[in-house]
Amino acid sequence: MSSDAPLPMLGGLSAADFLRDHWQRRPLLIRGAFSGFECPLTPDELAGLACEEGVEARLVEEHGEGGPWQVRHGPFDETVFGTLPERDWTLLVQAVDHYVPEVAELLEAFDFLPRWRLDDIMISYAPPGGSVGPHVDQYDVFLLQGMGRRRWQLGGLVPDDAPIIAGIDLRILERFEVEAGNDWVLEPGDMLYLPPGWAHHGVSQSDDCLTLSVGFRAPSADEAITSFADYLGEQLPASLRYSDAGMAAPGDPAELDDEAVARMRRFILGTLDDPARLAQWFGRVMTQPKYVDQLVPNETPTAPEALVARLQEGAELIRSPGSRFAWRALDEQDATLFADGDGAECALPLARLLASEAPLDAEALALPGAPELLAALLDAGSLAWADEFEADEFEG
Ligand code: SIN
Ligand code: CO
Repeated sequence: MSSDAPLPMLGGLSAADFLRDHWQRRPLLIRGAFSGFECPLTPDELAGLACEEGVEARLVEEHGEGGPWQVRHGPFDETVFGTLPERDWTLLVQAVDHYVPEVAELLEAFDFLPRWRLDDIMISYAPPGGSVGPHVDQYDVFLLQGMGRRRWQLGGLVPDDAPIIAGIDLRILERFEVEAGNDWVLEPGDMLYLPPGWAHHGVSQSDDCLTLSVGFRAPSADEAITSFADYLGEQLPASLRYSDAGMAAPGDPAELDDEAVARMRRFILGTLDDPARLAQWFGRVMTQPKYVDQLVPNETPTAPEALVARLQEGAELIRSPGSRFAWRALDEQDATLFADGDGAECALPLARLLASEAPLDAEALALPGAPELLAALLDAGSLAWADEFEADEFEG
């Protein structure tokens, strides 16, 4: 698909237009982004998920018994929902795309963005008045109205140190002024794109308000630098050290002089400036699973011959829900396949296939190195046999 083709989900903008004018820059309201949208989940099913072990869920009550803006964390006992007031609360469930395949399918509509930038789809349910208060997120998000109506108000770009209400578990802005014209009620299928740092406030206007937040990930400077330094550090020899051969005798032996600081700076920046290793780290970090314990490795290693036989009998492999894949070419033939925070060198077409949405069946065996890599990914938990997966699939 050309990046100049108009996309209905971007209100007729092309991917190129959107990336130039909106992505990370300006919000965009898209009426009818998904026309005739039918939410793949009901409020009851969302509540059911919030009661499951291992699912990240929160309940936010604006006027809780324990004070304003009370937050409770799941998993919940299902009786909790009967104790809530008629209005002014919100249930939020993270990573619903990991548990509901029809929700995961929505992610394909965002293929005009790098898939490794995606974080998850969070879904919220709220009765009338329910909200999480005016706040700022540090990530890009597409807020898709799934059911019912939600009023969204935007308050513009907010500095990092904007005051927040003290003494509660939520980061709610002390001051929120709606920008003229940035006040809309979204209906099912409408979508609002927000770049990081924009103050926003979404309040349910109906009994059945479901909002899907398609969120993106971008490491902070702190995370990127510490994580890259850790990755690099594991590969550096102990003999690589600060050195000062040829230095002049110090004027005062207690002084940390400019030359010493400059030497350390050159040493650190020169060691960090390693594009090949940086690419290897980057692929690993951007494919790290959101929940490491959802990746279940095989206890007994799979023999590649056994895997080949099973595929030839017609079995299919699937990518485990929540597993992340990306690839990077090393040269014209070879690539690194990144999967769930790890990297493996393989033939480029094999890396592309594995990181795509295409089926993984016996046809994949035509690619050199496929049996060994598929077996390794199966053992790591990034892939699963389709027929076995059905049996222990999440029951929402
Ligand atoms: C919500 O769905 O209630 C909140 C989503 C958000 O503001 O990020
Ligand atoms: Co938000």
